[in-house]
Amino acid sequence: MQDTSYSARPERYRNGMAYKRCGHSGVLLPRLALGLWHNFGADREECTCRDIAHYAFDHGITHFDLANNYGPPPGSAEETFGRLLNRSFAPYRDELFIATKAGYDMWDGPYGSWNSRKHIMASLDQSLKRLHTDYVDLFYSHRYDPETPLDETLQALTDIVRQGKALYVGLSRWPRQAAEYAFRFLHDNHTPCLIYQGRLNMFDRAPLQEGILDSVRNRCGFISFSPLAQGLLTDRYLNGIPTGSRMTQERFLKSDILTPQTLRRIRALNELAGERGETLASMALAWILHHPEVTSVLVGASSTAQLANNLSCLQSAPFSEEELARIEKILTD
Ligand SMILES: NC(=O)c1ccc[n+]([C@@H]2O[C@H](COP(=O)([O-])OP(=O)(O)OC[C@H]3O[C@@H](n4cnc5c(N)ncnc54)[C@H](OP(=O)(O)O)[C@@H]3O)[C@@H](O)[C@H]2O)c1
Repeated sequence: MQDTSYSARPERYRNGMAYKRCGHSGVLLPRLALGLWHNFGADREECTCRDIAHYAFDHGITHFDLANNYGPPPGSAEETFGRLLNRSFAPYRDELFIATKAGYDMWDGPYGSWNSRKHIMASLDQSLKRLHTDYVDLFYSHRYDPETPLDETLQALTDIVRQGKALYVGLSRWPRQAAEYAFRFLHDNHTPCLIYQGRLNMFDRAPLQEGILDSVRNRCGFISFSPLAQGLLTDRYLNGIPTGSRMTQERFLKSDILTPQTLRRIRALNELAGERGETLASMALAWILHHPEVTSVLVGASSTAQLANNLSCLQSAPFSEEELARIEKILTD
């Protein structure tokens, strides 16, 4: 009997990176993956984007996560990555695991968003053009659509795999009940869901509380997005709001989140990380990775230094019961 269970030990190879089997599939994913939501749009220096992507790959990060709308402007992160794929990454396509998604607003009119077959098929074709590739390794439904029949969306995902435009499919931000329906549908149609993408970090534990981690157990992998709460769970905002930080954009991370209570929590967590001999970013990532259902964390980084810091979570010491209780107390006090 093959052992493809969650408890299978991560296989460690290539530049110190640990890889974990994604659910029951044949795919091993790096425990730290790179997301291109921010920092890879047309508003960034291309040489910085290239340095971050190269640094990631040179340190064993084989999994890069995109979506049709990443930028700004929407689509430009795929264009940046497409140029990298054409140039430096060209000889390494088979060493890369590239994901993209559709579901959020992308173009005008009734077919530019949500989960109709029309939107999903057209969006993936556009993504492939921007990425300069014939296929992506993983294609996600980016969000649940309460109005489109689930079967229509799921059949489109299945057909995309049959057409060879994606090797695997995944779900992002689907509520538990709909996700469970989808897992069954995709399994019965011989395109099992590879992975569920949800936000899990010390400040947002919805996947634990809403039972998503229970749902994915023994069905597929789980990858956590915004594992650093967009930078809150680092030393980035300990002494104010630095110029150029995501919070200064006041878009997805607004400054009103930095309440005295949040700052108190960040400081207390930072103190604990110091006692453990690591940075807060490293400890925050290690905390997510210690959940056995979690395959990987999907970090963002605006510099190679941040990415280096984040990679150090792979050397984190295991948490003692006392440390876990202390974290719980900090987060719930
Ligand atoms: N499925 C979905 O709906 C969904 C939603 C959101 C994200 N995602 C995916 O998840 C990926 C990661 O999300 P995210 O960018 O929000 O992740 P994150 O890792 O929580 O936040 C990344 C930001 O935190 C700061 N940071 C990272 N490492 C740091 C360090 N060591 N020290 C100090 N600051 C640090 C940087 O902010 P500065 O820019 O200020 O330097 C960086 O841009 C996205 O790129 C995307 O692929 C998916």
